[in-house]
Amino acid sequence: MVLADQGARVVLADRRDDECRLRAENLRRRTGVPALGLACDVTNRASWESILHEVVSSFGRIDVLVNNAALTMDSRSPHYDATFSDFPTDDWNAVLAVNLTGTFLGCQVIGKHMVVRGSGSIINIASLYGVVSPHHPMYEGTGVHQPAAYAVSKAGVLGLTRYLAALWAPHGVRVNAITPGGVFNQHAEPFVGRYARLSPIGRMAQPEEIRGAVAYLASDASSYCTGHNLVVDGGWTAW
Ligand SMILES: NC(=O)c1ccc[n+]([C@@H]2O[C@H](COP(=O)([O-])OP(=O)(O)OC[C@H]3O[C@@H](n4cnc5c(N)ncnc54)[C@H](O)[C@@H]3O)[C@@H](O)[C@H]2O)c1
Repeated sequence: MVLADQGARVVLADRRDDECRLRAENLRRRTGVPALGLACDVTNRASWESILHEVVSSFGRIDVLVNNAALTMDSRSPHYDATFSDFPTDDWNAVLAVNLTGTFLGCQVIGKHMVVRGSGSIINIASLYGVVSPHHPMYEGTGVHQPAAYAVSKAGVLGLTRYLAALWAPHGVRVNAITPGGVFNQHAEPFVGRYARLSPIGRMAQPEEIRGAVAYLASDASSYCTGHNLVVDGGWTAW
């Protein structure tokens, strides 16, 4: 939405293709900018190549890539809630495949197109838990869970971001990350209250509060910014 508001032609790509087509249609209606919804499995290189082909055929080029897909509490692997000791290797691999390998493949395929063109901005969506550990006692008895695989995958996203920023800076391609704190998505008590008490700003984020960071990193306002992790966490990591 924020990129469409800035006048960008937008492509929404997700494994839930019906949902992205619907959202793209809504975006077109609300903003008047061209928007496409495409099916994509970020763990599959051919799927990324097909996205590149379709977007370049429709819009001519890709200026901005936001790597946002992830296995999370809401898009979970089968045993996402298992304890560390019992966490199956298949789930570990599944989380890393989407969150880290998916970001790697997106950067490879779309980043290569940007390097050839000599310009582009890649924004990798990381997480607080790529920077600090989850506060484990906060989660007890809440039904909310963040496995080690999630934290490790997001720490890997930050490492990949810095690596590519240094590699591609001479080629005009900037690579940055956004680290959101907890974003409210109908979480129940006691989670919301516990989170609020541990956060300097005293609440979870609203989804709209991540928009400014995306707009900044996507645009020339951040033309001298690469390899940065823009933390939008209400001060969580400040104390
Ligand atoms: N919600 C939060 O509190 C929070 C906090 C920090 C970071 N983040 C990060 O922000 C991003 C968005 O989070 P969200 O809360 O909207 O998560 P979400 O689970 O609602 O959305 C993740 C999306 O990824 C898609 N996806 C999963 N596997 C895929 C695959 N193989 N190919 C293509 N798409 C796939 C899912 O269909 C889903 O639409 C994620 O990267 C998440 O890690 C979220």
